Amino acid sequence: MKKEVELNKAKWLVEPGCVVLVTSGTTESANVMTFSWQTPVNSADPCLVLLAIHHARYSYDLIKQNHQLVINVPGEELLEQTHFVGQVTGRNIDKFKESGLTPVPTTVVEPPLIRQCAGHLECRVAETFKMQTHDLLICEVLRAVADTDLFDGRWIPEKFHTLHYLCGNKYGVMERTIEAQRKK
Ligand SMILES: Cc1cc2nc3c(=O)[nH]c(=O)nc-3n(C[C@H](O)[C@H](O)[C@H](O)COP(=O)(O)O)c2cc1C
Repeated sequence: MKKEVELNKAKWLVEPGCVVLVTSGTTESANVMTFSWQTPVNSADPCLVLLAIHHARYSYDLIKQNHQLVINVPGEELLEQTHFVGQVTGRNIDKFKESGLTPVPTTVVEPPLIRQCAGHLECRVAETFKMQTHDLLICEVLRAVADTDLFDGRWIPEKFHTLHYLCGNKYGVMERTIEAQRKK
């Protein structure tokens, strides 16, 4: 079961520096692409996540149209789909159909969520910084949702393995929690 996550805890969905799947467009005409260049840049009030997107991406064109997107967090079981939607463009194909990922409409933003992902950040693009090849999108999280069995304020790596991009077709997975002895 998925449950709302308070916005002051939303950044913990992407804090591990995991690979994410970003949906853009509208429910009728949506696209999905893979991102590893993502990071929280403000914890709360508002919760902000930065994405670096290359100007050549089809998703870039779609995000420019309605300034909305959803950051979806895939687990290890979505490795093939995650790699696939990061290799081909949605300009000419329906990547949802080809990958088997399921779009689910949401009420807060126009792009859909991905049913098979364990967590979702529904965002509006609050600010954009243009770089040479990429834009830096500052995304304000409007709503956050996560699977209650897998996320209890942080991901539980013993139950849910986020993906971490290494190089080429290689990924690492987060599998266990370790604790520093010195408490904060
Ligand atoms: C693991 C992985 C991480 C990626 N990270 C990014 C990223 O952070 N920014 C980016 O612009 N492209 C990134 N890409 C490339 C895009 O996902 C890829 O070009 C995709 O096909 C674009 O799809 P689109 O044209 O349908 O938008 C990544 C690809 C992979 C496989």
